[in-house]
Amino acid sequence: MLSGVTYRASNLYLLETLNMTSDLSPIVQAKYAAAKTAADMVQDGMKVGLGTGSTAAWLVRCLGDRVRDQGLKIWAVPTSTRTAVLAREVGINVIPLDEAKWLDMTIDGADEIDSELNLIKGGGGAHLQEKIVATASDQMVVIADAGKVVDALGTFPLPVEVLHFGWRTSQMLIEETLVSMDVLGRKTSLRMAGDRPFVTDEGNHVLDLHLNRIGNPRQLALVLNQIPGVVENGLFIDICDRVVIGHGDGRVVVRDITTGTETSSTMDLDEGDNLFSDL
Ligand code: A5P
Repeated sequence: MLSGVTYRASNLYLLETLNMTSDLSPIVQAKYAAAKTAADMVQDGMKVGLGTGSTAAWLVRCLGDRVRDQGLKIWAVPTSTRTAVLAREVGINVIPLDEAKWLDMTIDGADEIDSELNLIKGGGGAHLQEKIVATASDQMVVIADAGKVVDALGTFPLPVEVLHFGWRTSQMLIEETLVSMDVLGRKTSLRMAGDRPFVTDEGNHVLDLHLNRIGNPRQLALVLNQIPGVVENGLFIDICDRVVIGHGDGRVVVRDITTGTETSSTMDLDEGDNLFSDL
């Protein structure tokens, strides 16, 4: 049986969505409610970063619907090959980041979200592109089901992308570094896709750090990126501006860290019928 991390890393996140929609589980409804709410924040003419993962896949479908039904005109920069494929499939204009240069908004999922809107990302192994794209945006909006909200980051294994060259040395240096960090666990593992090491879109590997609790995410993020061979870690500190949290009953809470506001609404989930039956 595949672990949660390995499963997501094996490019099967769409299959995960498809399987779950057959019974429209509360978690799928929560992801959809968050994604649909965020898709409605996108305005004509915007350049938009598209995240990766099962929640982001809902976003891409909702945006595709708006392009088709409302003539919404946007230019999108995907954060992975798989998101690019889906975006093109649903009729969204896809351009590379270097052509867009700067984006109005990036909308992406997350694996964990703390009260300061710091994140763990990279469960799908796309956090390198995700961090570059989010950082090149006026604002980053994170969409997630309520289960992603945590008191402290670290229960979800922290992904760290490392070069193939000398990855065992990088792993050893990371483990040595963790000894002096404020974390509860220090095990690390090479992410696998079946019986082979997982390979990112950039041809690198991912080490998952099983830390259980990260006492100082800001410090850890800075220290990890100093280690030779580390390309990028999955801690997103001070990058996310707004979170859209979906619940299984259609409730959606939007929290904005810049304005300090929190708003709540309830979505009629029957609206999603067409989208679900398309699958
Ligand atoms: C991809 O690398 C990740 O950062 C995803 O954004 C994150 O894992 C959330 O994925 P789900 O929406 O599938 O939970």
